[in-house]
Amino acid sequence: MFESLPESKPDAILALMERFRGDTRAHKVDLGVGIYKDANGNTPVLAAVKQAEKLLLESQDTKAYVGPIGSRPFCDAMINQVFGANAKTDRIRAAQSTGGTGALRILADLIKSTRPDAAIWVSDPTWPNHVPILNAAGIEMKHYPYYDAQKCEVSFDAMMSALKSATDGDIVLLHGCCHNPTGADLLLDQWQQVADLCESKSLFPFFDMAYQGFGDGLDEDAASIRLFADKLPELVVAASCSKNLGLYRERTGAALLLAADTAQADRALGQLSVVIRSNYSMPPDHGANTTNLVMTTDSLNKQWREELEGMRSRMVRQRSAFAEAMRKRTNSDKFDYIAHQKGMFSRLPLSTSQIESLRDVNGIYLVGDGRINVAGLPEENMDALADAIASVL
Ligand code: LMR
Repeated sequence: MFESLPESKPDAILALMERFRGDTRAHKVDLGVGIYKDANGNTPVLAAVKQAEKLLLESQDTKAYVGPIGSRPFCDAMINQVFGANAKTDRIRAAQSTGGTGALRILADLIKSTRPDAAIWVSDPTWPNHVPILNAAGIEMKHYPYYDAQKCEVSFDAMMSALKSATDGDIVLLHGCCHNPTGADLLLDQWQQVADLCESKSLFPFFDMAYQGFGDGLDEDAASIRLFADKLPELVVAASCSKNLGLYRERTGAALLLAADTAQADRALGQLSVVIRSNYSMPPDHGANTTNLVMTTDSLNKQWREELEGMRSRMVRQRSAFAEAMRKRTNSDKFDYIAHQKGMFSRLPLSTSQIESLRDVNGIYLVGDGRINVAGLPEENMDALADAIASVL
């Protein structure tokens, strides 16, 4: 059976995570996988989540099946978070998913079933796992240029001109905020132009929303999606609770959709339910129920928002401190862009051999494309880190 299988190619980010775990050097620094870390390098369970889990443990009286769509209160809470408290929800539906990744996959399957010949346009660069997920769904992939690595900013004109060449009806995968891996986001005016283009060419927007609350704030980060939802008849969103609630291993997320009318919304959710049932039948419950309690219990919601703001503002400070340290080392503003980018990631302009040298000689782990997780920058040891990076430049 298995003799003809080729060796698998390890996922670059997960392989780096394993390699870091196996490194016994005490001073090692993890700037790799996208997990929030506090000043001590830990990823603790959020206090609001811990409290909600206690409540859940005490109050839950059954483990009976819920159903493919998962918890309705959780789905409503996610609709509220993504589309806003004042959104008209008659054309919006949601299904619980196994993390943001699961949402990407079930939405891709749904799209493939309804528009089999459409291509999906993906930013270059993008989160590496987008490629296998969309390949597995069988959707033809095309790339739009997104990032100018010389200027360290979005190459908006090139992006627009590529999208103008898309066939009417194609899909466009957009990072709703905190672009992974570059940290370079579109400005609101640029989002408006992309929305106009989607409208004029009937391009279908597919948002990946993995970092809501890590950029400028929960509502601010959703401005892109809300702008599109005001203008366009249809879109989908893969939303994750991994980062903003720290629920990584609980695999909690939602697949959300906006349809042209209520009947289409119901039909689309019905088909999504079929996709879920034929994949894994039903999503896990714990993370979604915990999230629902956090989002709908006033005291927990307040506590969570404060904790989220604490993570966000710490990453902003880390960005500034790192940019400042690099300014001193390089006597230039070459790294100032790090301070202005959004969310958990930015890219350093380093070659493969420089990245390998940082890992092998200094115990500093960053992804092979130069992506760093700014939450992992060592607050107490920023100077040593900047020295090491400057030494390989
Ligand atoms: C990342 O980009 O590092 C995270 O989204 C974790 C992952 O699954 O790759």
